[in-house]
Amino acid sequence: MDLAEAARAVRENAYAPYSNFQVGVALRTPEGQVFTGCNVENVAYPEGTCAEAGAIAAMCAAGGREIAEVYVIADSPHPVPPCGGCRQKLAEFAAASVRVTLATVDGDEKVMTVAELLPGAFTRAHMD
Ligand code: THU
Repeated sequence: MDLAEAARAVRENAYAPYSNFQVGVALRTPEGQVFTGCNVENVAYPEGTCAEAGAIAAMCAAGGREIAEVYVIADSPHPVPPCGGCRQKLAEFAAASVRVTLATVDGDEKVMTVAELLPGAFTRAHMD
């Protein structure tokens, strides 16, 4: 499945009545499975749950534990980078070299690696 298409489609399901900012994410595992997520807000915590976290949760729920590629899309003037918490969540399951494509609905794309998104990441190796 095409990650860009999957992310664009799931973005339509985002529940974002507080920010009016819908985000869609699709990720692929090394086995080729694709999981998607959208942001889901609520009145008590209007920032809600990010689309990245949704896609990661779907992957984990299906038993997946590794991310090979990620695609994030939003309706913004410039490709929107994941928030700090999502960078750490991505780094938990994705190698430093994994590509994360940030996109706008108008077709602008910026490709970054997980290492570029979270330089100097805190990893399990630091607890050895
Ligand atoms: N949001 C995401 O879902 N992913 C991002 O990468 C950036 C921000 C959501 C959270 C919230 O629902 C809305 O966008 C505004 O911050």
